[in-house]
Amino acid sequence: MDQAQGLRLIKQDRPAAPGYRTVNGAEPGGSPKPGRNPLVLAISSGKGGVGKTNVVANLGLALARQGKRILVLDADLGLANIDILLGLTPRFTLEHFLAGHKKLQDILLPGPEGLLILPAGSGVPELVDLDETQKICLLNEMDQLSQHIDWLLIDTGAGISTNVLYFNLAAQESIILVTPEPTSITDAYALIKILATRHQKKNFLILINAAAEEGEAKEVFRKISLVADRFLSSVSLDYLGFIPFDKHIPMAVKKQQALLELFPHSPAGKSFTDLSRLLTDRPFRNRNEGNVQFFWKQVWQVSNINVSA
Ligand SMILES: Nc1ncnc2c1ncn2[C@@H]1O[C@H](COP(=O)(O)OP(=O)(O)O)[C@@H](O)[C@H]1O
Ligand SMILES: [Mg+2]
Repeated sequence: MDQAQGLRLIKQDRPAAPGYRTVNGAEPGGSPKPGRNPLVLAISSGKGGVGKTNVVANLGLALARQGKRILVLDADLGLANIDILLGLTPRFTLEHFLAGHKKLQDILLPGPEGLLILPAGSGVPELVDLDETQKICLLNEMDQLSQHIDWLLIDTGAGISTNVLYFNLAAQESIILVTPEPTSITDAYALIKILATRHQKKNFLILINAAAEEGEAKEVFRKISLVADRFLSSVSLDYLGFIPFDKHIPMAVKKQQALLELFPHSPAGKSFTDLSRLLTDRPFRNRNEGNVQFFWKQVWQVSNINVSA
């Protein structure tokens, strides 16, 4: 599949899984209606290399298998990007769109199971500094695109860079990914602390990756919760679950194919499927506030605040 097929793909309604209801309550298979509100979920971590890209790719796939239409914004400027992980080669990125050379639909990269990827390239650092024309174009095209998606997943990258903060502040929900390594735990806490104390973000979903078993995952969560309860008033951390350490993940990475395609019944594969069910059953807060236009407006609004203050 090439990028040109992105447009054609989003023009077709994907077949719905049993029990699937669209976000705005439209009948499955019905034509998309304007004004629907895709859920915007940021996936972040304090420390790099803890598994964000693998989580975004496989969670995206698991959600797509449930009939959800998923757009992934690859906003991580770090090392391994989602296109590499899935063996895809983007010819165009957000940079081409921002330069006015391509429409947003033309840069969408079709992945497995109808997953759509918006490769940011090195366009992301400029997102907060766009001129008015670029902003209006992005808002309009995003709005059209949002009629064809149910969930926008953002791989924000790691740390406390301004991009990570903007995307977390603008998203309706933030998943903070943590592994049992002490450095991952302290860095996750540092990210939560900055978002909470400087930017009044209060709610976080905590997902533990690469845990040996559930007991270890819960212990990691307990550690973060203890410190947060003690030092960060009114912050609410929700335990979302855990993805086990699983050798099938690096095996899939080496083959540049998604774990859920290659090893759907592996321990990690099953937990991605379980996680996607948990998320689709979850009543999200602020569900009606957000749409993708709203999301970008928030990004630009929060970008005016001084994050280094
Ligand atoms: N649950 C897991 N079990 C085993 N290895 C994992 C697991 N999650 C991630 N990895 C490995 O960790 C490395 C980093 O993962 P990646 O998704 O690129 O992290 P990030 O996006 O946070 O930088 C990859 O080589 C991947 O194979
Ligand atoms: Mg990554």
